Formats: sequence, structure tokens, C-alpha cells
Amino acid sequence: MPDPLLGTDLLVTDLLVTELRELARQVAVEATELATRLRADGLDIDRKSTLTDLVTNADRACEELILGRLAVARPDDATLGEEGGATEGSSGVRWVIDPIDGTTNFVYDHPGWACSVAAEVDGVPIAGAVVVPTLGAVFTAGAGQGATLGTRTLRIAEPPRLAEALVATGFGYEARRRRQQGLILARVLPRIRDIRRTGAAAVDLCSVAAGRVDAYYETGLGPWDLAAGALIATEAGARVGALDGGPAVAGDLVISAHPDLFGELCELLRDAGA
Ligand code: IPD
Repeated sequence: MPDPLLGTDLLVTDLLVTELRELARQVAVEATELATRLRADGLDIDRKSTLTDLVTNADRACEELILGRLAVARPDDATLGEEGGATEGSSGVRWVIDPIDGTTNFVYDHPGWACSVAAEVDGVPIAGAVVVPTLGAVFTAGAGQGATLGTRTLRIAEPPRLAEALVATGFGYEARRRRQQGLILARVLPRIRDIRRTGAAAVDLCSVAAGRVDAYYETGLGPWDLAAGALIATEAGARVGALDGGPAVAGDLVISAHPDLFGELCELLRDAGA
């Protein structure tokens, strides 16, 4: 059961978490179906913050679809979407949406793009879904309810030693940030089993939850990259946090791993210059 009162007037009950979790799942599945259809028809591709930061007509259409569905189902909730959709609300719930996380994968038809939808109260995710259609994977979680992959309950894998850990990471779109991320990676790589760069932060966090990697770290995530995946990883038993052990903050370095591996990974990242 979630904490019954999370600092607003909103009473966060198990029933509310269940409702939001199911709604997140439904809209995320529907959005990935739309994205898949639009991709088959041919994409219009634009650039956002840099030449490498892509956005497509499908990103925008999926966000619009999700916002429309949420406005009907929960008209008093606030929303924040990666493609610019932001609305105020009065209910105490805010939806944080990445219509297509891993847009570069999506453009290249590379598996691993996802739709990520989370419901937050006071900035804390309480329900979420990450749907990865190319893997046939529907991840969901609710605060205090655990995390699932389809019908399977997720429990994070026992951690190996750091030297044998498979670690996922990702890179931002800005050249200077990438250079810094590359320098850190060069110091991390010799001290772990290997690196995975899936191309979608939400999928990386779900991969920690499902034991498909042992850990994940990245700097510069947007709130929409983080919210649902962080809840899913946490509910599967992972620790998701900042380098100083505090709560994960979008934009800063976010680390996720089994609680027994977390501290050692933080130490390595610090040694590596993070
Ligand atoms: C990006 C992906 C990528 C991560 C970037 C994100 P987008 O999201 O999650 O894996 O490395 O930091 O910005 O732009 O594809 O929605």
C-alpha cells in the first residue's frame, strides 16, 4: 500500500493507484499501436535541440492521442509531455509522458523504442507503464503494488560483483555532454563486464527491473524518460537514486541497480569523474 497521504489533499489509495496504473497501460499500448501504423506510412522527421535530437510526426501524434485520452478519463489531472504538452490540473495527479522514448531507434526501425506514461503525486511516480512493442513487452508498476512484465511479477536479480556487472547507459544530444559521458565511460568500461546502450532510458530502467542488465546510469534525462521506468525498477526491488544517495533527479546523474551494487557503482562513477 502506498503512503496514504503524500503531502497534498489527495488521498493516494490502492484503488487510485490501480486505476492510474491500468489507464497508463491502456494509453501506452494504444500509442505504440498508433506509432507503429504511422511508421509504416512513412515518417516526417524534424530536429529538436541539436542535429542528432530527432522528433517525428508519430511522437507528436502519440502525445496528442495520450493527452486526449487522459483529458476524457481524468479531466482534472495535470500533464507534462516531452513534445510540449503541459496542462495544469486540480486533482493532485500529474501525468508525465514520453510518447516515444528512443526516437532514434524508432526512426531507424531499431528495436527498443517505447512509450512511457507515469502518474505522479507531488513529483513522486505512483503508477506507470512502459510499453516496448518490438519486444512484445508491457511493463507496469504501482506504488506499493510491485512491478510486472505482462503477467509476470518482476523481482530484481541477485547482483554479481561490479567487475562482472552488465551496465546500461545512454548519452545526451549535446556534443559537450556526450564528450564528458564518453570520458566517464572510458574509465567505467575496463572495470565491469560490459556496457549496453539500448537507446531508450525507460527501457534501460525496465531492463534493470527484469534482470536484463545489472545496473544503469545516465546524466541529463528528461522527467518523461525517468518517471515510469524509475517506478518500475523501484517496485521490482532496485534502488534508483542520485550519486549522493538522494532521490533521482531528472537532469542529474541517475543510477539504478540492486541495493547491494548501488554504492559500489556510485564509487566507480565518482572515480571515473562523474
Ligand atoms: C532519449 C533516450 C536515450 C537517452 C537520452 C534520451 P528520446 O530519449 O531515452 O536512451 O540516452 O538521454 O533523451 O529523446 O528518444 O525520447
